[in-house]
Formats: sequence, C-alpha cells, structure tokens
Amino acid sequence: MNSVQKGKFITVEGQDGAGKTTNIEFICDQLKQRGIDVLLTREPGGTKLGEELRDLMLNGHDLRINDMAELLMMFAARAQHISEVIKPAISAGTWVLCDRFTDATFAYQSGGRGLPPHSVETLQRLVQGELQPDLTLLLDVDLSTGQARSRQRNSGQDRFESEQTAFKQRVRDAYLELARRHPNRICVIDASLKLSEVQKQILQVLNRFVESAL
Ligand code: TYD
Repeated sequence: MNSVQKGKFITVEGQDGAGKTTNIEFICDQLKQRGIDVLLTREPGGTKLGEELRDLMLNGHDLRINDMAELLMMFAARAQHISEVIKPAISAGTWVLCDRFTDATFAYQSGGRGLPPHSVETLQRLVQGELQPDLTLLLDVDLSTGQARSRQRNSGQDRFESEQTAFKQRVRDAYLELARRHPNRICVIDASLKLSEVQKQILQVLNRFVESAL
C-alpha cells in the first residue's frame, strides 16, 4: 500500500504592522508555483468556532476577557483548528501555511500580557501533543516602523493593536527570544527593509526548505 507523503506545516509570525498579510500571500504563491498543494489558514480562526472566538477576542464587543480566559480561548480555537483542519490536511499530503500559531501565544499572552510561559507550555502539550511547525518565518520590524505601517492601513484597531507601546515591545522581545531558543525552526526576516528586499530573504529561506522537503 502506498502511504501518502505528509504535508509540511509552515507558520508566519510577527508583530502587528510587520507585513504578514502581504508576505503570506507571496509565500502561498511561491509554494503553488512549485506545484505544492497549499492550504492557507489563520489563527485565531480557520474554523467556524475559531472565527467566532477570534471575533470575540479581537473586537471585544464590550466583553471583559481576563488574561487567563484569553489564553484559554486562543487554545480552544487552536484545538478545533488542529483537529478539523491542520492534521487532516497534513495527513492528506497538503502543506499548511498558517498566519500565526503558538509562538504568537508565547509572544502576546506571555510576553505581552505577562502570563507565565509554563502556562502556555502546559496548554501547548495538552492541545498539540507532538505537532509543531516544520518552519516558522518571523517577520521582525522595529516598533516605530511597525506602528507607522499599522496606522497606514487605516482600518480600526483591534484589542491587541490598541495596546500600549510597552506591550508591543514585550511582544517583539518575546518573539526574538523564541527565535534564539529555536534557531532550527524559526527564521528571522528583517521586515523593516523595502518589500523587494524582504521577499528576497523570504525566498532564500523557502528555497532551502522546499529543496530539503521534496
Ligand atoms: P492578525 O494576525 O494581526 O490579523 P490582521 O492582520 O487581520 O490584523 O490579528 C490577530 C491578533 O491576534 C494579533 O494581534 C495577535 C493576536 N494573537 C494572540 O494574541 N495570541 C495568539 O495565540 C494568536 C494566534 C494571535
């Protein structure tokens, strides 16, 4: 019996305003051009339950959501996403490209909000088991560039985008610390450069990864 080769799991991370949306579409196109079957999805979200939770967490609707409740909602959305979307796709040989995953929880709920990292680690083990991204691209920008780009988008700010500068600095620092701890999985992209330069760096990482995977 032929077993289907498993798909890869790629995540894209970065602070708000790092240029994730533009670059994730670029990554998706690049993978498709190489004949790879790709599923683009996002967190929080990716399922009906996940999108409902996303709306509650990002848009607030005058809800009070304490830090622990927020953490559990992120992982509730993730549990559904993993079982309904991510695992079935990977098993069928599809590559999953996900706009944020658990590194964002370490960065925002632990780094930003100040919850202890072991709470995130405990939930990570419980919800993900062995599942980890094969590759993570971390789009890194300095705070002022990120904030200027967020302002340019000119859409209303969500609960995370409206946080103070100190929160955003902690999010960035936590992301960079994760990259130091997982140098084989997380590739830091200097996203403060102009788009063509950012995409040149992304291509280098992708080409290397695809070559080793196919
Ligand atoms: P984002 O991915 O930036 O979407 P958009 O580009 O449409 O604004 O929005 C998701 C927000 O959710 C972002 O501010 C980070 C936050 N978030 C967490 O705080 N923890 C998490 O675990 C995840 C996945 C996201």
